[in-house]
Amino acid sequence: MSTTTIFIVFVIIAAVIAAVGIIVVASRRQDADGAVTQGELDRGAKKADQAKRKAMAQASEASNGSVATATMVAAPAEYVEDKPRVDVTADEYGVTRRKFFNRAIGLVFGLFMIQFTIASLAFIWPKLKGGFGSPVSAGSFEAIKAEVIQGGTVIPKFVAAAQSWVVPFELEELPGSSYEETPFVIAGGESDGVGLMALWQRCVHLGCRVPSCESSQGFECPCHGSKYNRHGEYEDGPAPRNLDRFAVSVNPGGELIIDTGTIVQTARSKNKTVGYPQGPFCVG
Ligand code: FES
Repeated sequence: MSTTTIFIVFVIIAAVIAAVGIIVVASRRQDADGAVTQGELDRGAKKADQAKRKAMAQASEASNGSVATATMVAAPAEYVEDKPRVDVTADEYGVTRRKFFNRAIGLVFGLFMIQFTIASLAFIWPKLKGGFGSPVSAGSFEAIKAEVIQGGTVIPKFVAAAQSWVVPFELEELPGSSYEETPFVIAGGESDGVGLMALWQRCVHLGCRVPSCESSQGFECPCHGSKYNRHGEYEDGPAPRNLDRFAVSVNPGGELIIDTGTIVQTARSKNKTVGYPQGPFCVG
């Protein structure tokens, strides 16, 4: 099950829980007959009223000479007083403390679930709309390959949607390299031994954008001078590792797919796969 599917299921479950919570809170505002008691007495008040009436009836019986028990005689004086009953209308009674807390809890819970749902959708949105963070099509694999290798010079192609530099990689360099365990960072090359690799443009030191340098045939960070060869392997400066790269593949339509949701980090390469520099540096 993909991450996106898991999040969608999670959001649906959260929404169902929110709906059940709201229904439960709302149902507490109904009496035993199911009638909504908006503005009416709540069950606690009705129960107290019934108990009071019962006690008054028993006290009345006792005072009329019928069978009296110790309990009846001991009924509170307030029950036997012949006070005139004053009926309170629903409007006068208003919102009880219990109703107020029920509604407040329902409101807070509902707001929390709405916020949670929005945050979850915002988190997975890049994957849903197919932007950075999901697989991105860079275009025709063969066209890109012809573009990045011109004569003996490599001219990396920048794919903005994937924030990546696409460079060629000779498959004969794979054994013993930093990518031997992760060959999925190289796409194609079955016919002529040259595949393509997508390097994340972000410098692994402090995140500056790293431009390519045609003269040195590598990448040189303008912020603090980290340098990487054209396969994105660390060569110099404060960068702690090679440039990060993405999983790549060629789809049935012949397009190079850069999966920007799968980032591969590698330590500084011990066995470099390409010579560097091959000319003057761009950054001193
Ligand atoms: S951000 Fe690139 S070297 Fe510091």
